[in-house]
Amino acid sequence: MCALTSSVLAWRVHMKLESQVHPHCTAEQAHLFSSVDGGSAELEVLSFLSALVSLFKPTIVLETGTGKGYTSLAIADALKTNGRGHLHTVEFDPSTVAVAKQNLEQVAPELKAWITHHTGDTREFISSWSGPPFDFALFDSDLQIRHIEFEMLLCASEISEDPEIPSHGNLARGAVCCFHDTSRFRGETMHDFNPEMIAALDRHSQGQQWLECPYSRGFRVLRLP
Ligand SMILES: C[S@@+](CC[C@H](N)C(=O)[O-])C[C@H]1O[C@@H](n2cnc3c(N)ncnc32)[C@H](O)[C@@H]1O
Repeated sequence: MCALTSSVLAWRVHMKLESQVHPHCTAEQAHLFSSVDGGSAELEVLSFLSALVSLFKPTIVLETGTGKGYTSLAIADALKTNGRGHLHTVEFDPSTVAVAKQNLEQVAPELKAWITHHTGDTREFISSWSGPPFDFALFDSDLQIRHIEFEMLLCASEISEDPEIPSHGNLARGAVCCFHDTSRFRGETMHDFNPEMIAALDRHSQGQQWLECPYSRGFRVLRLP
C-alpha cells in the first residue's frame, strides 16, 4: 500500500470542509471537497497528484509554491513508491519553507531524500536552472505568475510538434504540467482571479492533451507532445 494512504488519513483528522476555509460560489461545489486550510491544496488534489506521479513515473519534478508542503508530500510519496525521481520545490518565504520542512519531518521523514527545498523566487530559480528538463511540474505559486513560470520553462511562446526537438526548453517532451486554482468562477469570490492565466492556459492547450476540473479551486493538466 502506498505510504501516502496512511499519511492522508492522518491529515484527514485535521481536514475541514473546503467551503469552510475558502470562499466559493455554488458552481464550484466546494462542500464536496476537503482541505487543511485555504492556502494548501485540497485532499482531492493531493490524491490526484499522487495518482498522476504513480502513472507517469517522472524522473525530475518541479513544484512552484511549496507552501506548507502538503503537495510536496503527495508528489514525493508517489516518487518513493515508483522507486525513482526527485522533486525540486521552490518557495520564496523562508518561514514557510521552515514550516514545510517541519511538516515533512513530522508526517513522513522517509521522504526527505526525495525532495530538495529551494528558497527563492520561482522565476529566478527557473532562469538559473541548468539541470535536465522537468518531466512533471506543478504550478502552485502566485496566481499572477503561474503561466509566466510555464512560459519561462518553455522558453518559447509555442509548443513545438517537431519530434526532432528533444525538449521544450526546460520541459521534457511528454511533460505533465499541472496548474492549481484554475477555476473560471474564482473572480466571483476572490480578489486575485487572473483571467490572463486562464487565457494563456487555454491558448497553450489548443491541439494538446489537456484536462480541466472545474470544481473547488480548479485544476488543469496539460501534457506536452
Ligand atoms: C498556494 S501556496 C502553495 C501551496 C502548496 N503547494 C500546497 O498546496 O501544499 C503558494 C505559495 O507560493 C509562494 N509564492 C508566491 N509567489 C512566489 C514566487 N514568486 N516565488 C516563490 N514562491 C512564491 C507563497 O509564499 C505561498 O507559500
